[in-house]
Amino acid sequence: EKNGYDHFMLKEIYEQPSAIVDTYRGRMLVDQGLIRMAGVDDNLTKFLNAKRIIIVACGTSWHAGLVAEYIFEDFARIPVEVEYASEFRYRNPVINQDDIVIAISQSGETADTMAAIKLAKEKGAFVFGVCNVVGSSISRETHAGAYTHAGPEIGVASTKAFTTQITVLSLIALKLAKEKGSISNSDFHLYLRELDLIPSKIEEALKSNEHITGVASEYKDASNFLYLGRGFNFPVALEGALKLKEISYIHAEGYPAAEMKHGPIALIDEMMPVVVIATRKGHYEKVISNIQEIKSRNGKIIGIVTEGDQEVRELADYVIEVPETVEAFTPLLTTIPLQLLSYHIALMLGKNVDQPRNLAKSVTVE
Ligand code: F6R
Repeated sequence: EKNGYDHFMLKEIYEQPSAIVDTYRGRMLVDQGLIRMAGVDDNLTKFLNAKRIIIVACGTSWHAGLVAEYIFEDFARIPVEVEYASEFRYRNPVINQDDIVIAISQSGETADTMAAIKLAKEKGAFVFGVCNVVGSSISRETHAGAYTHAGPEIGVASTKAFTTQITVLSLIALKLAKEKGSISNSDFHLYLRELDLIPSKIEEALKSNEHITGVASEYKDASNFLYLGRGFNFPVALEGALKLKEISYIHAEGYPAAEMKHGPIALIDEMMPVVVIATRKGHYEKVISNIQEIKSRNGKIIGIVTEGDQEVRELADYVIEVPETVEAFTPLLTTIPLQLLSYHIALMLGKNVDQPRNLAKSVTVE
């Protein structure tokens, strides 16, 4: 079952290269410069006329929605709002006929997401589902959709569902960008080729596993962690913190790096490990100055950096490298070391990695 891995979570982390290939296989035709997705193709006019996209989801799926917000706005120039499904349904949201609601759910059974979908349908919106479990309630309740095809995710902490959700949403954004002409043809081809390289770059990123074990043993006894990222990697900071919380029970918070000075910087002392996503593309210089602020307050810095990075290495206590890619796809790589870090910390603390206390794989209560 676990295919030689000690835990489902570790197996699923390592499955990400093949899961992503399964997600884009048959949909992304790199040589022909084409993206084909039945659920989008059949509703293309609706997508192209959409004035706004509202994404509803919970937990890790909500984080994938936040990454998608950056990607949709950057590629397809469509305004996006990302909502916690639970909050969306309990206010009186403004939903127009030409809004598209995208619901993201690994299990396809999350009660709050389901309720948000029903509300959006009542208000006349077109609802598109991004689910992993085939035939799940949400996949049946939505007007159209695209499966992630990540295969079964058994570990309660979501890993491959997250990266495959980002992959599906990137494909949709690229498809719309091409149709709308909001990115150039040459950029479109470049992005397809880059997405096609992501699985092998994840393989590369996974090679840091041993090194990450060392980082984990250094900080496993901390009672708090901060995770910082900017731009496309701000949601990755949130996701890294969630992974740590849910399986190791260490308190962690994710923040946009620039917000640190508006409050959380008060927490920083020599007891505080700060994981900073500082890849070379994406506000690199700004993130370096955030790192300097942490360092001058004696915080411990774990930098997630681009291969070959020197600047962060000089400042940080540890760096973990990921291969270089276009900025929009960096979340698919920077997420990997954060998953492994939380896995190893939880394991060293003797926690039940696959079935953390108080959590269930699908949350069917509201
Ligand atoms: C995080 C986690 C949860 C789920 C959330 C949504 O690791 O497992 O936060 O992401 O409950 O679940 P789905 O995607 O099934 O709707």
